[in-house]
Amino acid sequence: MPQTKHFTSEAALPNTICSFLHFAHLSLINFESGLFFIEIPPFLLIFKSTQENFKVFIKLTNTFLYGRMVNNDMEEVSIREAYNKFKPESCVFVISNDEQGKASGMVAGWNMKCSSDPGMFAVSLSKKGYTHKLIRQCKEFVVAVPNKELEEVVLFFGSHHGNEVDKFADSGLETEKAKIVSVPLIKNATVNFECKLDKEAEAGDHIIFIGEVVACHINNDKKVLFNFKKKDGKRDFGEF
Ligand SMILES: Cc1cc2nc3c(=O)[nH]c(=O)nc-3n(C[C@H](O)[C@H](O)[C@H](O)COP(=O)(O)O)c2cc1C
Repeated sequence: MPQTKHFTSEAALPNTICSFLHFAHLSLINFESGLFFIEIPPFLLIFKSTQENFKVFIKLTNTFLYGRMVNNDMEEVSIREAYNKFKPESCVFVISNDEQGKASGMVAGWNMKCSSDPGMFAVSLSKKGYTHKLIRQCKEFVVAVPNKELEEVVLFFGSHHGNEVDKFADSGLETEKAKIVSVPLIKNATVNFECKLDKEAEAGDHIIFIGEVVACHINNDKKVLFNFKKKDGKRDFGEF
């Protein structure tokens, strides 16, 4: 025989919501039968008593009493876990040239538009990579927004180092001459921003490069690639 647990409203609920029971009476929670009942005369509401349902009930009750949502599930997590909540996030190619004018680049999920007049775009690049060295000496870079057809190249650019492989030659990624900067555009990208380096800022293990956008180009018919949470340890992408 499964043991049945009954809780009175006062035992089951925090003090803060007991006054609610003057007009809404949580008469019984019966976890084993899988139901709990809320009496708001003349109605009797019956809910499936999952832990989730009960949490939702407590949140709604708090909202009703105090006019604000109270998060009962707040949990302290690592910085990695917290950042992961931002996914899906857009990711971009960040391209620059070496001293010989040869282009290389990487992928950055940590990117943002940061001014509209003048247009400015920022990317945060790891100090461990190669691309930040190119931007420092070239003072120009291109931010190219990929789409689903470039997914394989995104994975390649995002997992190899430009001082070890020739990313453009190895991937066959097609480029096009930019209007103002010396760094090439990515032909099949959805958006290309031509940027002149405005300033850089150290940010822990990354460097934030802020570029003034001096020209933008779009491929109207293309969508934008988003990086989802990893699935079975593998990167997963979709486009919108
Ligand atoms: C979807 C995706 C997002 C990434 N976001 C970033 C990022 O924001 N900043 C960064 O430094 N590296 C990021 N990376 C990793 C770099 O792209 C990767 O380390 C790359 O190999 C560096 O190339 P480089 O050494 O030629 O500069 C990302 C990779 C992927 C696939």
